[in-house]
Amino acid sequence: MLNPGQVEHYRQQGYLVLESFLDAASLDALLAASAELVTAFDPDQHHSVFRTTDRDQGRDEVFFRSAEQVQYFLEDEALDGSDALTVPAQRAINKIGHALHDHIPAFRSFCQQPLLATVLKQLGMNQPLLWQTMLIFKQPGIGGEVRWHQDATYLYTEPSAVIGLWFALEDATRDNGCLWLAPGAHRSPLRERYRVDWSDRRGTLETLNKQPWPGAEDAVALEVPAGSLVLFSDHMPHYSSANRSDRSRLALTLHAADRSAHWDAANWLQRPTLAPFLLGS
Ligand code: FE2
Repeated sequence: MLNPGQVEHYRQQGYLVLESFLDAASLDALLAASAELVTAFDPDQHHSVFRTTDRDQGRDEVFFRSAEQVQYFLEDEALDGSDALTVPAQRAINKIGHALHDHIPAFRSFCQQPLLATVLKQLGMNQPLLWQTMLIFKQPGIGGEVRWHQDATYLYTEPSAVIGLWFALEDATRDNGCLWLAPGAHRSPLRERYRVDWSDRRGTLETLNKQPWPGAEDAVALEVPAGSLVLFSDHMPHYSSANRSDRSRLALTLHAADRSAHWDAANWLQRPTLAPFLLGS
């Protein structure tokens, strides 16, 4: 449960950090479920790479299908020119998503707990509809940068209604690629839209507004211990740097929007065959 000061901080600054949000049992369950998914990874079956530095030209059918499935995405540096792994399979994973809550019992029950819905309702949602779940790995030494972006670029609603929930499953520090954002910059315009033309299944990143990304002096590093929750609005610019340390930085993210908001048909993430998933129910 949030106090009025925390709700006000979210409104004014566009984000909120809740340290020790997860109890030890929840954290252990999520870590165990993540480890199980990593163990199940078959490098012969998954070769989609996730990168954010090419204006999203690399998005492919695996990416689109992952809206309703559990798919693995690899680090850019994990494959050589002939698609062979350059690192052990477990260290090659960039992320797993985006329907963990539909298919993996541990994530489903985590998302069904009333607490998450309660927090989102305190931040203004009436019916928090869960659109995606994702494990983001940032493996030691290889975990890549995620450039400045706003989540509404990829998850667009009218009116703007998406909130991101970023759970640190391991300690996040500057060295291992913690989240950076710019307090108050959630009021800045949406700079880009990633739209998919479903007639030819091609996605394009379009520039909407040329306002520059926040400068280094405006960015704040959210160094948080394992078990913390960071909430942030869909217009909040954020990024994370590459992990060149020897410690991994695992995070679980959820994105929810109020059910009454209009989900754009050009969003890459569509769930035509899955039932709507209301958080807390
Ligand atoms: Fe993001």
